[in-house]
Amino acid sequence: MKISGIGSSLPKKVVTNEMLSQILDTSDEWITERTGIKERRVLSSEYVLDLAVDAAQKALADANMDAKDLDYIICANVVNEYVTPALSCIILEKIGARCPCFDLNGACVGFIYACDIAEAYYKIGKVKNVLVVCAEAPAHMLDWHDRTCAVLFGAGAGAAVLTPGDNIIKTRFTGSPGWDRLYEMHDLQWCPYDEKGTTNLPLVMHGQDVFKFATSTCVSDLKALFEETGIKPDEIDTYFIHQANLRIIRYIQTMLRQPAEKFPTNIQKYGNTSSASLPILLDEMKREGKVHDGDMLAFSAFGAGLVSGAMLMKW
Ligand code: ACO
Repeated sequence: MKISGIGSSLPKKVVTNEMLSQILDTSDEWITERTGIKERRVLSSEYVLDLAVDAAQKALADANMDAKDLDYIICANVVNEYVTPALSCIILEKIGARCPCFDLNGACVGFIYACDIAEAYYKIGKVKNVLVVCAEAPAHMLDWHDRTCAVLFGAGAGAAVLTPGDNIIKTRFTGSPGWDRLYEMHDLQWCPYDEKGTTNLPLVMHGQDVFKFATSTCVSDLKALFEETGIKPDEIDTYFIHQANLRIIRYIQTMLRQPAEKFPTNIQKYGNTSSASLPILLDEMKREGKVHDGDMLAFSAFGAGLVSGAMLMKW
């Protein structure tokens, strides 16, 4: 398939490092130096759903496609305001589509998983037009008193319309033990939120372990794709790396011996938006005229699971 339309949506409310320093024992200096993040967006008057619908409508407009022509909607999401129905069902109704839809929880790898599933369905003749929406609000999983996690994440949504083409060159995924690197398993509880929407099952990250996992899996995923396809790292015009930490991105760039200009970043403005990170970045790059027909693009993401995924694509 190929990406024919792309769009993104972010909450209005900006939370700067200085603002977090007023409620947490942290500082702009620490957050900037260790992560690259300066500010992030958080939900205030919006819901995850609003961002998802807005991004979806922008992607459809960009693709010049009517929602009724969609054959499938795949929504990547870790947590939203509803347990059921799936976010994709609500998106379907709001945009006026009439097609099968489902949600997938692929953590930060959700966008690449969704593109891969769309491509597989296309190859067996089940679909022609697929809407992929990645909509996330990791703050729902955070303990805002925990400085080690609260400073890292932000909310956002990105969407893409995939149509027939042969632009997705190859994908690769891994899964490995280590869920407890991102969560501490409390006694399982039926409802993870209290009546104010505050989680009582907060995300707890073993940052250094995840850092090591992220850097090694990203480099090995991309190298494996290069080996399998014969494409060389130098032939990639732009590397889209999951925006989790600027230091992770710089490390990967060094390991692949590529110039920093090939690794665009927006983590400074949005923090880690989980699966939405890659389509938001792609949308910004496209709107700024920095992605051109025929460009070779590499995508790589890693996250809770522990899971990782990578994809090579011709634009
Ligand atoms: N402000 C000030 N100090 C802090 C903060 C903070 N926000 N957070 C931690 N510290 C302190 C720690 O307590 C520690 O103090 P100590 O030395 O007195 O014990 C010190 O800073 C160093 O802590 P480290 O954890 O060693 O810091 P590190 O340099 O590893 O950075 C970070 C932490 C940013 C989390 C990094 O490890 C990282 O980015 N890891 C990867 C995260 C990631 O990629 N996640 C993606 C998956 S997320 C998902 O899928 C949902």
